[in-house]
Amino acid sequence: MKRYWKIAVLANIKDDNQPKPEGVPPDAFADFDHIETVDSLRAALETDGHTTVFIHADRELPYALRKEKPDICFNIAEGLGGDAREAQVPALLEMLGIPYTASRVLTNGISLDKTLTKRIWRDRRLPVAPFQEFNIGDEPLRSDLKFPLFVKPAREGTGMGVDMKAIVKDEKELRERAQYIINAYQQPALVETFLPGREFTVGTLGRADAKKYSRHPEWYEKDGFHRFPLLELDTTRSDEPWVYTNEAKSKDVGADGVPGFFCPADVEPELAKKLKHLALRAHQLLGALDVSRTDIRLDEEGSPRLIEINTLPGLTPDYSDLCLQAAAEGIQYKDLVLEILYLGASRWGMLEPREDAQETPKKK
Ligand SMILES: Nc1ncnc2c1ncn2[C@@H]1O[C@H](COP(=O)(O)OP(=O)(O)OP(=O)(O)O)[C@@H](O)[C@H]1O
Ligand SMILES: [Mg+2]
Repeated sequence: MKRYWKIAVLANIKDDNQPKPEGVPPDAFADFDHIETVDSLRAALETDGHTTVFIHADRELPYALRKEKPDICFNIAEGLGGDAREAQVPALLEMLGIPYTASRVLTNGISLDKTLTKRIWRDRRLPVAPFQEFNIGDEPLRSDLKFPLFVKPAREGTGMGVDMKAIVKDEKELRERAQYIINAYQQPALVETFLPGREFTVGTLGRADAKKYSRHPEWYEKDGFHRFPLLELDTTRSDEPWVYTNEAKSKDVGADGVPGFFCPADVEPELAKKLKHLALRAHQLLGALDVSRTDIRLDEEGSPRLIEINTLPGLTPDYSDLCLQAAAEGIQYKDLVLEILYLGASRWGMLEPREDAQETPKKK
């Protein structure tokens, strides 16, 4: 078995100097990565002796893969257009038989769609705010949805389509906002009860058999999962209070007008346990693999409600929520990245189980 691999980092890169094509919303491509993030990932992967190459996840990707012949891909690609863009690269890699990290096609497709995700969670009694999807904009509003409501694109990330106008207080504002989202983002608008409480994001790492392949088996609890410390976002003092908007997401941690980040968050043990349990169940019910980050907000009674799950969580050092959570407990960026690599590789038969994880032979 090969010890050192050729790893292709696959990403969609944003170029802030390039003009946007016509007809796309102002925050289009906000979830694409900067090339510096790719450089950080490559540097982290290379610390363990692997060689790396960066391949743009654009329409040339199939040809570049044929040329580069990577042993495995480290996938952070958000994809290009359509209704399941985060599933595009995994689907291509499955077709070509190339191993890759983190969640697979179905999960990445569903988790991008917040309505479908919430239907699955609700079916298994996980708490979500009441919601309704608007496809044309003038559908009758269901009676369990009480104002104020929150309106956002059903299939975007990085706060795209989310600003102060997302909170609507009456029928007129609701119709206007739903229509705007449907037209500008060319997709359904998800309408939910506005959750006025505290906001948390919860990282999950691992798998039932994670310890068997991990470089850090001590990170994992008995069930094979690592719970990162909770990160709380205090949006009350940000430029657009109460909502973690696209604008806030594009600024640096600590900059003016950005929400406060608290990690580990100051949370009573019972609530902390609940939040971590919900994030893990949310991850498992969607069939997420190895890593994810789940957003949760408290409703007016203080009960947690799942907002969404990110199966391709941002991995920009000192900036992305998951990296802040890891740093808060002393986990180095390179170790986090390598762990995602090895957990992924082990699913494709590229790693032997650790020697100390072999089952001890039973006495006759
Ligand atoms: N029902 C709601 N009530 C109150 N605020 C909400 C609600 N849904 C979303 N928000 C706010 O909008 C922000 C963005 O929403 P959401 O997490 O669904 O979008 P996203 O763009 O996919 O986020 P990410 O950057 O994590 O991918 C949340 O962080 C939260 O501040
Ligand atoms: Mg979110």
